[in-house]
Amino acid sequence: MPLLEVNSLKMYYEVKGKRWVKAVDNVSIKIDRGESLGLAGESGCGKTSLSLSIMRLLPPNGKVLSGEIKFENEDILNMGYKLFKKKIAWKKISLVPQAAMSALNPVMKVGDQIVEAIIFHEDVSKEEALERAKTLFKLVGLDPSRINDYPHEFSGGMRQRVMIAMALACNPKLVIADEPTSALDVIVQAQILSLIKDLQKNLNLSMILVTHDLSILSEICNSIAVMYAGKIVEYGPTLDVYEDPQHPYTKGLLAATPSIKGTRRRLKSIPGTPPDLLNPPPGCRFHPRCPYAKDICRKEEPPLVKVGEKRVVACHEV
Ligand SMILES: Nc1ncnc2c1ncn2[C@@H]1O[C@H](COP(=O)(O)OP(=O)(O)OP(=O)(O)O)[C@@H](O)[C@H]1O
Ligand code: SF4
Ligand SMILES: [Mg+2]
Repeated sequence: MPLLEVNSLKMYYEVKGKRWVKAVDNVSIKIDRGESLGLAGESGCGKTSLSLSIMRLLPPNGKVLSGEIKFENEDILNMGYKLFKKKIAWKKISLVPQAAMSALNPVMKVGDQIVEAIIFHEDVSKEEALERAKTLFKLVGLDPSRINDYPHEFSGGMRQRVMIAMALACNPKLVIADEPTSALDVIVQAQILSLIKDLQKNLNLSMILVTHDLSILSEICNSIAVMYAGKIVEYGPTLDVYEDPQHPYTKGLLAATPSIKGTRRRLKSIPGTPPDLLNPPPGCRFHPRCPYAKDICRKEEPPLVKVGEKRVVACHEV
């Protein structure tokens, strides 16, 4: 039984004039216990929207139109929201949100913020929660004696560690980390990624790691799902996708990725930008940018087809 299963999920945002931004359009993913899935794609491709759908943290104009989200085979999409908050959110699945570092309350001590999060979700005393917060500080490589400091007294990397500590506060089985290193310099990025990797291994955590940078995923994730314009275009084991990318968009993303496993390659960016999801192109949504586009690509949407035991690709040329 997979830990998390998302099947054919459609999540659109309603905007002025009853128009819909098709942010997540027929997306399916599956995560097993202890597995890490990397969710990659350029800005605006729907990575955060998918994450927020799973956490049921969508803004009021975000609506799940159809599909399934199951955790340990239980329907967590249609379960009463109170029950979801009590039973699933933070205890089973937690989120390190995008721009997490600015999510801390600047006028509240960091330790108090973690304690508050623990008390909100679990029936423990303040003292117990404080002890747990200190243990979490140690776990993420922070000095517990700094538990009473304010956010501005921490560096960016340390604040990100605090956010990771908060995500771990209720011992979740799955952590969704949305661009956990994007605002950090390269050295701190490497430290945070190494922390995530260690935690994942030592706690046998499952993860969804969201990023637009494919090189980040290579060392941490067992599998990769590449999203383009609200759809998954390629999905498979990390090594296979790296060594033999099949979708032209994955090839483009890899060509634009600085260094993978130490190999140097000339960087080439993909011309153009992802489409406006209010009115995505017909057929294959990548066709306006694809060097291999043919007539059929402009008319018919390519289905995701199996190209290996655990691999799928959506491209008429594959
Ligand atoms: N509240 C909203 N209302 C309307 N449209 C939205 C809303 N939030 C996001 N969108 C749109 O949904 C699409 C997917 O956005 P999303 O933030 O999920 O992308 P992303 O892949 O996480 O991008 P990034 O890498 O920049 O974080 C985009 O077209 C975005 O403009
Ligand atoms: S379906 Fe056509 S346009 Fe889309 S990626 Fe494949 S070749 Fe390119
Ligand atoms: Mg995002």
